Amino acid sequence: MSKKIKKILLKKNKSKIVSLTAYSKSIAKILDKYLDIVLVGDSMANVLYGHKSTHKISLENIIQHTQSVKMGIKKSLLVVDMPKGSYKNKKIAEKNAKLVIRRTACDAIKLESNKKNFEIIKFLVQKKIHVMGHIGYTPQFKKKFRVEGQTKNESLKLLEEAKTIEKAGAFSIVLECLTPHAAKLITSNLKIPTIGIGSSSYCDGQILVTDDMLGLSGFYPKFVKKYANINRIIEKAVKKYTREVKFKKFPNNSNYLNGSKLRK
Ligand code: KIV
Repeated sequence: MSKKIKKILLKKNKSKIVSLTAYSKSIAKILDKYLDIVLVGDSMANVLYGHKSTHKISLENIIQHTQSVKMGIKKSLLVVDMPKGSYKNKKIAEKNAKLVIRRTACDAIKLESNKKNFEIIKFLVQKKIHVMGHIGYTPQFKKKFRVEGQTKNESLKLLEEAKTIEKAGAFSIVLECLTPHAAKLITSNLKIPTIGIGSSSYCDGQILVTDDMLGLSGFYPKFVKKYANINRIIEKAVKKYTREVKFKKFPNNSNYLNGSKLRK
């Protein structure tokens, strides 16, 4: 087991695990200073590529964005989301996971659970691949959004699913849009850390889509706290630039390249 993975496991019941998504070097470089985990999520399908679902993103898209993110990462654990269809069976999953790891040098991969692919996780772990699980609302396999764990029976079923993923060897598990009761039940019954998104503070850690929490994506459901309004900042800057170009205020003397110096 790698040192970075051990560090994440040791945080269980001690300190919260903090994570966000990144799709490029510039954002990853900032996140890396503060976070434990950076995820290259298939949410890039919606956020960057404007798809209605995450299904259309390709493995090549994921690999190229991860190569960019990797350049900004020094210390955090870099996890890569395997896109839909890339882990259909053991052989395809092994081939694609190894390809992602070889081309990106990421630390781990994440697979969504469809309540049947536990053996694939087990197989990948046996091949020494670090796997993060993902249960609850799993957009690759569920057509309609629904908060899960609304009854005692549903919570117990989710717990069983999480325990099977733990037994298969996953080092952590994302809980997406579960009731606080289900998140608490699972977190207190697993040895591996749970990372919540829309699943209350009972989880061992939290993850959000960076573009959502920065106010860039325009997607702000109740579970997202908007920590900034980057859209407004960008708009203000672009408006100012437009005005200055039109009124010949930019570029001015201080931006002219008279000598051989490129930088100020
Ligand atoms: O793709 C993604 O960004 C994710 C998070 C929602 C955990 O899987």
